[in-house]
Amino acid sequence: MSISDVTFMQETPAHDAEIEAINAEAFGPGRFARAAYKIREGGPHDPALSFVVMKDGHVIASVRMTPIAAGPGHAMLLGPLAVRPDYKNQGLGKALVKMALEAAQKAGVGVTMLVGDAPYYQPLGFQRIPYGQIVMPRPTDPNRMLAVEHVPGAVALMKGMVTHASRASVLA
Ligand SMILES: CC(C)(COP(=O)(O)OP(=O)(O)OC[C@H]1O[C@@H](n2cnc3c(N)ncnc32)[C@H](O)[C@@H]1OP(=O)(O)O)[C@@H](O)C(=O)NCCC(=O)NCCS
Repeated sequence: MSISDVTFMQETPAHDAEIEAINAEAFGPGRFARAAYKIREGGPHDPALSFVVMKDGHVIASVRMTPIAAGPGHAMLLGPLAVRPDYKNQGLGKALVKMALEAAQKAGVGVTMLVGDAPYYQPLGFQRIPYGQIVMPRPTDPNRMLAVEHVPGAVALMKGMVTHASRASVLA
């Protein structure tokens, strides 16, 4: 980390507006069409596993984690991950991912999954989920469905349609 005077902290409701602005800036209106967005529409994220980077009293980067289910499997969906343009390439994104993964592992989460660029996430421990094992609610490149297994065997339990965890019992 080369950037100074930043603070990493757990997200609180006071950060909501700035996080929304950062995500709008990073992903634009196209974010509403993404498969991950569709899942996140199904229920709340978990603020205990979601983190921000603060500088001079403002949020400059954010990562959120949302509980999901796929068949008998449960996991956290990592994202959105976004860093304000002025602060990119200084290690903040990777540090936020590591923080979220550590918190998930500590909380007993079996798997953290995401939809994202493998070259960025593979060095952080993410691997491709086997083709055809899970289905996203919107068309998704299977090479971008990545997961870190915190508990051995937890990825194999994920099967079929991925939903917000709170929707799983409704659909079962
Ligand atoms: C992607 C993003 C979160 C990275 O955050 P960051 O703090 O700038 O990244 P870090 O400093 O942790 O890592 C920088 C390294 O990752 C690389 N990198 C950044 N985005 C990448 C991508 N999409 N694919 C592969 N490598 C990427 C950079 O080239 C850099 O490489 P280097 O260390 O060899 O120079 C940030 O650029 C961003 O907010 N982008 C817009 C939103 C987005 O695409 N989010 C990710 C959704 S999958």
